[in-house]
Amino acid sequence: MNPLQACIFDLDGVIVDTAHFHYLSWKAIADELHIPFTIADNEHLKGVSRADSLNFLLKLGDVTLSPEAFEDCMKRKNEQFLTFIAGMTPADALNGIPEFLEELKQSAVRIALGSASKNAVLILDRIGLTHYFEVLIDGNQIKNAKPAPDVFLKGAEGLEILPAYCLVFEDGIAGIEAAHNAGMKAVGIGDKNILNMADAVMPTFEQCTLATIQNIWQSMS
Ligand code: BG6
Ligand code: MG
Repeated sequence: MNPLQACIFDLDGVIVDTAHFHYLSWKAIADELHIPFTIADNEHLKGVSRADSLNFLLKLGDVTLSPEAFEDCMKRKNEQFLTFIAGMTPADALNGIPEFLEELKQSAVRIALGSASKNAVLILDRIGLTHYFEVLIDGNQIKNAKPAPDVFLKGAEGLEILPAYCLVFEDGIAGIEAAHNAGMKAVGIGDKNILNMADAVMPTFEQCTLATIQNIWQSMS
């Protein structure tokens, strides 16, 4: 088995629980457009880019928008989302994450971010965790959104580590597919019934240590 050399983290739903903020922001747009949109539908938007999320909603409601109206909906969704994240503080980091990042930082295992969000750095700054990430890849730097592998491949490239030595942490189906498309193993964070394509699943990072992850990595060989 290759030694574990890097951990690449998704942001939304892994480091911080913004999925509900995304849901509420999209829900306001869906209501305006008379599109039925539920929490269960929102599962399909985890890790999905802003434009692809709106396309998903429009398909759900069989609604067509002009390019101008499409841009306007994306802009207003993001304005709403920004009002939610403006109130975030370091207390919003998910349980176990600060401790796990600190342990990784003290070890030889390197740390990168692979997020679809264009707000990733803003969110990390608000929760005070930016300094842990040696390489930060977000939605501003990639052309092809998850499930394309770009965000994770760029992360590995930035660290100068081969994909086979990287482990991805992801809460979204599209993100786990992206990790696999990059030739990386993925630990799903959340419900194992939903994330059944992941190589391992943990409900949260609570009580998670580097030893836990090394054991999971060994079991993946
Ligand atoms: C992902 C979220 O991390 O980022 C998605 O899981 C979101 O729900 C995507 O659509 C893009 O985020 P943003 O902040 O650029 O609209
Ligand atoms: Mg996510």
